[in-house]
Amino acid sequence: MIDYSDVLEARERVQETSRRTPLEYSHTYSAMTDADVHLKLETFQRTGAFKIRGATNRIATLSDAQAQAGVVTASAGNHAQGVALAATRAGVDSKIVMPEHAPISKVKATRSYGAEVVLEGTDYNEAAQRAHEIERAEDRTYVHAFDDEMVIAGQGTIGLEILEDCPEVETVVVPIGGGGLISGIATAIKAQQPETRVVGVQAEGASSAAESLEKGERISLDGVETIADGIATRSVGETTFPYIREHVDEVVTVSDAEIAVATVYLLERSKTLVEGAGAVPLAATLFEKFDYEADETIVPVLSGGNIDLNTLTNVIVRGLVETGRYLKIRTILTDQPGALDELLDIFTAHQANIYAIHHDRTSRDVEMSDTEVEIELEMRGPDHVDEFLSALREAGYEVDVLV
Ligand SMILES: Cc1ncc(COP(=O)(O)O)c(C=O)c1O
Repeated sequence: MIDYSDVLEARERVQETSRRTPLEYSHTYSAMTDADVHLKLETFQRTGAFKIRGATNRIATLSDAQAQAGVVTASAGNHAQGVALAATRAGVDSKIVMPEHAPISKVKATRSYGAEVVLEGTDYNEAAQRAHEIERAEDRTYVHAFDDEMVIAGQGTIGLEILEDCPEVETVVVPIGGGGLISGIATAIKAQQPETRVVGVQAEGASSAAESLEKGERISLDGVETIADGIATRSVGETTFPYIREHVDEVVTVSDAEIAVATVYLLERSKTLVEGAGAVPLAATLFEKFDYEADETIVPVLSGGNIDLNTLTNVIVRGLVETGRYLKIRTILTDQPGALDELLDIFTAHQANIYAIHHDRTSRDVEMSDTEVEIELEMRGPDHVDEFLSALREAGYEVDVLV
């Protein structure tokens, strides 16, 4: 297993290619939690995520012959971009296999960092199969996204930066997909400050580490379901699992709704764009998935910010719903002039702002003398929603809350 000295060596190798990302105290989340929250902003890393650290360290430790033959990997996301840039900076040729339907923005970004992109396979597994064929046929080195000790050591450099910028840290909160990131960070932290707690976070729909720890052996899930695609992994690695067992104090899970709320807070309050996987540590902190004391110094690692804009739109709407800022309702009116006006008077009285309204006299779901109205509203929070719905019901309207 790698140790602290490997992480220190990794730092020498990665500091030219990767950025030393900021660690910032957050008044907002400290006030919300009563703790002392400092955000490790790996979203500002080159390529938008931490992956370049591990990839750079791996590529720097290739022999001359291996470097000459080039590297290959499979990824639909951040690892693709990390390997592409790390290889180009080291003067090593890289081939990245991405699934055929990978978002075009990610394919373009990977190419722009200098890799040859091979589009093949309907999913990650098929892409990985092709990448291994290329590894054998072209004698390239396969750079694994997490299950590799040099990759783990590279990711561990984040732990060194946290200890330097915030030596008083009591708890570090880290997302877990395959486990490379947390293995590296925990190795660095526990070597220097064993009393500092390391908490891992997974999505409820992809909780292989939590289940593996409970069972005492590595398990593989039949399927995964989460908006946090960076950590939608069926199992933690064979190499990473022993690190998680040895160095990680606790693994907790968060729901997609909680991830969406954290994403919306980060955008609105911290002006920071974070992808689902990067938002899970803050979600776990805000929703108190692990215990902490008042004034405890907590560092959530916001690991990446590469999010597809269509996904972001859905996440924002979900976050607004969960925080009582968006409401969609359905009610029935008698089909006569003025009925809609009367309803809207209540909206005005309660300052419920309409985004969209659909007035349907032809709906089969209502009597012919009635009409169905569906309304989307901008609201000010849960209390405003409660007060508004009570006013409608007191006025005699039957209201279904759709979202
Ligand atoms: C943004 C982001 N956060 C966290 C992770 C999880 O890292 P690991 O697979 O090393 O646990 C990933 C993995 O791709 C990621 O892209």
